[in-house]
Amino acid sequence: MVMQIDRRCMILGGVWGIGALALPAGRALAADLIGARGFTHAVASGEPGADSMLLWTRYVPASEVESARLDVEVAIDPDFVRIVGGGTVRTGGYRDWTAKVTVDGLQPGTSYWYRFVAPDGSKSPVGRTRTLPQGDVPRFGLGVFSCSNLPYGWFNAYAHAAARDDLDLWLHVGDYIYEYGNASVRPGQGIVGRTLMPDTEILAIADYRLRYATYRADPDLQRLHQMAPMVALWDDHESANDSWEGGAQNHQADKEGDWNTRRAAAMQVYREWMPVSDEPWKAYDIGTLATLYRTESRLLARTRPADITAAASAPDADAALKAFHDGVWQDPSATMLGSTQESWLAHAFRANARTTAWQMVGMGTIIGRTVMPANVTDWLRPDANAKLVQRYRNSVRMAQNGLPMWMDRWDGYPAARSRLLRSAQAADSDLIMLAGDSHNAWAYGLVEDGQPAGVEFAGQAVTSGGMEGDLRGDPTAVARGFVAANRELKWANTHQRGYMMIDISRDRVTGEWLFLDTIKARSTRIASTHRMSVERGRRVFSA
Ligand SMILES: [Fe+2]
Repeated sequence: MVMQIDRRCMILGGVWGIGALALPAGRALAADLIGARGFTHAVASGEPGADSMLLWTRYVPASEVESARLDVEVAIDPDFVRIVGGGTVRTGGYRDWTAKVTVDGLQPGTSYWYRFVAPDGSKSPVGRTRTLPQGDVPRFGLGVFSCSNLPYGWFNAYAHAAARDDLDLWLHVGDYIYEYGNASVRPGQGIVGRTLMPDTEILAIADYRLRYATYRADPDLQRLHQMAPMVALWDDHESANDSWEGGAQNHQADKEGDWNTRRAAAMQVYREWMPVSDEPWKAYDIGTLATLYRTESRLLARTRPADITAAASAPDADAALKAFHDGVWQDPSATMLGSTQESWLAHAFRANARTTAWQMVGMGTIIGRTVMPANVTDWLRPDANAKLVQRYRNSVRMAQNGLPMWMDRWDGYPAARSRLLRSAQAADSDLIMLAGDSHNAWAYGLVEDGQPAGVEFAGQAVTSGGMEGDLRGDPTAVARGFVAANRELKWANTHQRGYMMIDISRDRVTGEWLFLDTIKARSTRIASTHRMSVERGRRVFSA
């Protein structure tokens, strides 16, 4: 069920429209974003169903009115000769002039073109979307993205994916935006002119709105949304770094105000600007081929990550780390999803594993277990300061005491991890985890109670910097060292940006990591790729 780009559509390239705004726009950007009128940010689609689709746009009227009514047209051809559906929606300043409408009565596994029409007759750029298939499906292609830190590079991964015709759906597993201000960009690493708005860290509703307006002015991101539907979930940076239900590492309540106010602003604006429903988590059936799950693991129920820093720096660190390992780390009340979502997912695995071949879980953070290799300090960059060296030494010591290097991920919530993997095993499901967050690329064979539990494809960032920022050793040796130190880890790439293509068929799922040549110039040249497959019923990667 591959989306084919109609030749006429290529000829009619103009109808896609280039976004009214294109980064970089230097100092004019703020004025452009705030002063823009009409359809300011093209269109997007999401929440795909077999017979329905959520369509998104943003329209700012030229005159001072409180609200505006938009019509939407859905056609089976890019010329809109055969309009087969539509709807109407009202928007206003109360929702930053974003508009979302769900159109139903569509046919499964079918490509549609859509556009919005304003009261003055003006039309939005045209978007293409595709409903989910029903019944037996030979193949489905999923493009997976994460971690797009705008000032650090061009969204070449989005541009590359948007130009393909073998991907049916995008999955964005978080860090679609970052909350930091321009001052946080490491000296010499930002792209000239790719400047964030607002200038400072985003805290209030108006800040989050302007940040999305900045990101969505990027022409490659606009194009991605115009070409196919997206299932999107947030990770931490859509609110603040290392967020959980009651706070975040990058939220200082004494200076930045009440966390719950900021958290509510982040969630509200995400739902205004993204083609998502207000449902906190959701399952999507891809015919009998797979069920794709959108999860929430940050803002609604996640408990505070256990703080290992005191134990790692204690005078008798080994004793303190052992106590941490045997105690607080394994607290069964620690949760990423919360009991309501955990229970929903376990029930869904049981019900869906009987009818769909693969259970594919989109997740903000990695579930594969990772400890720091003992020789990691050999690879540290030569100018590493004492603090950085000590941080890596602490991680090695944690590894020697059976503790992971990342506490903000599933590794920090081992009882919750076991519950999730056991629920997949109990349902006899072929589990595929799809994650982002780390900025580097990893493949894990997941094990629970000594038995294979499924595999994880963890994707590299679109632009955010990864471990290569600290580690300057030969990347092949670094990756080999991580694989040697970690039983679940089967492959890694710790230094390149890009995205993942997941090719799903009934008997096999193949993940391909695509590594872009550069993010420092606008280019879609691929430097290298890596593929790994899992056969149905095996729950381990093929040799
Ligand atoms: Fe990230």
